[in-house]
Amino acid sequence: MKKYIEELLEKLTLSEKIDMVHGTALFHTGGVERLGIPPLVMSDGPSGVRYDFHDHKWILINQNYDMISYLPCNSALSATWNRECAYINGKVLGSEARGRGKDVILAPGINIKRTPLCGRNFEYMSEDPYLVSEMVAPMVQGIQESDVAACVKHFAVNCQETDRMCVDTIVDERTLYEIYYPGYISAIKNGNTYSIMSAYNKLNGEFCCMSKSLLNDTLKDRWSFDGAVISDWGGVHDTRLAAEAEIDVEMDIHYRFDEHYMAKPLQDMIEAGEIDEELLDKKIRNILALMYRIKMIGPEAEKRSPGAYNLPSHQESMRRVAEESIVLLKNEDKKLPLDTKKLKNIAVIGENAIHVHSNGGGSAEIKALYEICPLMGIMMEAGGNVKVTCAQGYYVPTKEERADQESWQLLSTTKQHQPHEPGDEERLYEVEKAIRSKRRELKEEALELAKNADEVIFVGGLNHDIDSEGKDRKNLKLPYEQDALIEELLKIRPDMVICFVAGSPVAMPWADKAKAIVWSYYSGMEGGRALAKVLFGRVNPSGHISETFLRDENDCLPVKRGHFGKEGTALHDEGVFVGYRQYDSDGVDVLYPFGHGLSYTEYKYEDMKLSLDDNGNIDVSFSVENTGDMAGFAVAELYTGPADKVAGRPVHELKAFEKIYLEPREKKEVTVKLYPKAFSYYSTKDKGYVTKPGRYIIEIGESSRDIRLKGEVGFTMEVQTYIF
Ligand code: BGC
Repeated sequence: MKKYIEELLEKLTLSEKIDMVHGTALFHTGGVERLGIPPLVMSDGPSGVRYDFHDHKWILINQNYDMISYLPCNSALSATWNRECAYINGKVLGSEARGRGKDVILAPGINIKRTPLCGRNFEYMSEDPYLVSEMVAPMVQGIQESDVAACVKHFAVNCQETDRMCVDTIVDERTLYEIYYPGYISAIKNGNTYSIMSAYNKLNGEFCCMSKSLLNDTLKDRWSFDGAVISDWGGVHDTRLAAEAEIDVEMDIHYRFDEHYMAKPLQDMIEAGEIDEELLDKKIRNILALMYRIKMIGPEAEKRSPGAYNLPSHQESMRRVAEESIVLLKNEDKKLPLDTKKLKNIAVIGENAIHVHSNGGGSAEIKALYEICPLMGIMMEAGGNVKVTCAQGYYVPTKEERADQESWQLLSTTKQHQPHEPGDEERLYEVEKAIRSKRRELKEEALELAKNADEVIFVGGLNHDIDSEGKDRKNLKLPYEQDALIEELLKIRPDMVICFVAGSPVAMPWADKAKAIVWSYYSGMEGGRALAKVLFGRVNPSGHISETFLRDENDCLPVKRGHFGKEGTALHDEGVFVGYRQYDSDGVDVLYPFGHGLSYTEYKYEDMKLSLDDNGNIDVSFSVENTGDMAGFAVAELYTGPADKVAGRPVHELKAFEKIYLEPREKKEVTVKLYPKAFSYYSTKDKGYVTKPGRYIIEIGESSRDIRLKGEVGFTMEVQTYIF
């Protein structure tokens, strides 16, 4: 490959090279036809391959050839706790991207959910770096098997949307290596990702897209990443800095492509002798290497995978992932599953029963080939002998009615607000009044319907007006006055089943009064059917939340301290105490802990054995038995921590997990291998992970707070583990 690339590089003129390092359209770079180098064609994103735009305008081509499979979002995916599902999602995404003629798919998004309020959390996987690391690698592998490059984003610490283009994220090195970097390291080391997208924000004072310390010293030198770095759209702000930093492709949202910092301005500075052309050559080498790896160029080009989109097998795959992603949060008195044979009629209440989500969220929006909403799923699964009636229950204002009729893209990239029109106040007042009256009507209709049904299923939650790129949520409160509606419904139907479709957690002040709560993230084209299958017991739920559900957003330190969602600076002074690392260490009373998820059966954990070899490697074995009558998946989560509280270290951290399929009454032995690193912290002085001598706990449970087995091991010597 090296020789091939060097030969090609020699033949390229300066202006040809310049064309290759910047967008010459919204989603592709320039190619060099005379040398057989095609443009590098990219597409969003995380929910499926995005629809196509005109090259020079943010306007859809809109010819309906670009409808596509809608994937469960990354939050749903990680709720499966199944590496195979990550591979399957990747496989579908890669094949469809290739089938649509793309070279780079701008996914997966893996930023850590530092708080539950980041608007893009639905695109991300978890608050836990180990879970992210384990899911990202198979997903990248799945994508790249179709000769398409994954582009893991947004590197790094892009954890808020407020002021997303500029915010300066201040994070110490230990926290970076324990919380924010492991996902990327795994994507490179285990997933072998061919590209990475550098983020909009600054990290410790430097814009990520032009940061020598992040891109040159860390990514390239320390981690030996030899793929290409692509900027987030509009993330580059200076020609010299971009030339010197290891950023290979500059993309932007504006149409003056020649004015990109790495376009004519870079060419001019090279011609004037102000920037060494060798810096540009380095970038070209990385781009050509990416192209070679995905067979765009080189001796294997004839064998490049054609990919395929909208295959029935992709829809089957999406159904399987969706089914494994649904989380049963609560099931008092075995309220669920419902038996359709015993039912005559069901009342389905709530706007999310009929809402489709694939067409929103920002750059994750797609045109789904189809999307089964919960109502359709329930009707498909209930069959014609059950009468299903639906009431909207609560009112979601239309775009025109919303007080914030802003374009997410315009506002978040340029900070330009929509102009204020005369008469806006009066208009808003009238709109508000109309909304209030619609809400009253819908509520009355829902309460009436609920009274007489055999079963009531509420389907509420969020949508992409809220879970969205370009803005953060202010709090965990359910919108559209859903809490009040749920409270009233529960008064007349305390047996109501409550379901949510959302991209991030919500507070549930009425949770103690509810019997059954089922959580579905935006779970793709088959999501509504997967939810219905869980409700009717055709699928035994096996999803576990990959983030903590809090009672109050102020229980999260960065929110409480005002260090999240603010313009200017995002100070990460909570350090490594992110997510359950904070909540479990501080004993916060949470709504549902990290890793929680129930099943229609029970799993019994027993016989924990620990065997330690001379190198400090440990075999942790245990048995798990399905004691119920329904086959299902147990999710065994393994946490470690210091046996006695150590200042500055979380009480425990996830270090392994296994999803285990068990037939009724079946028992399996499971062995998990742990290395000393599983007990370490990152030492800035040693530039590596250090395991200090001492005693450590090993816990196995079905959530971070439902620990079923506990053991202890001791290290007598210090062990150091390096990154590569
Ligand atoms: C987003 C990226 C996306 C890019 C291209 C940016 O605004 O942050 O995630 O891939 O646009 O649409």
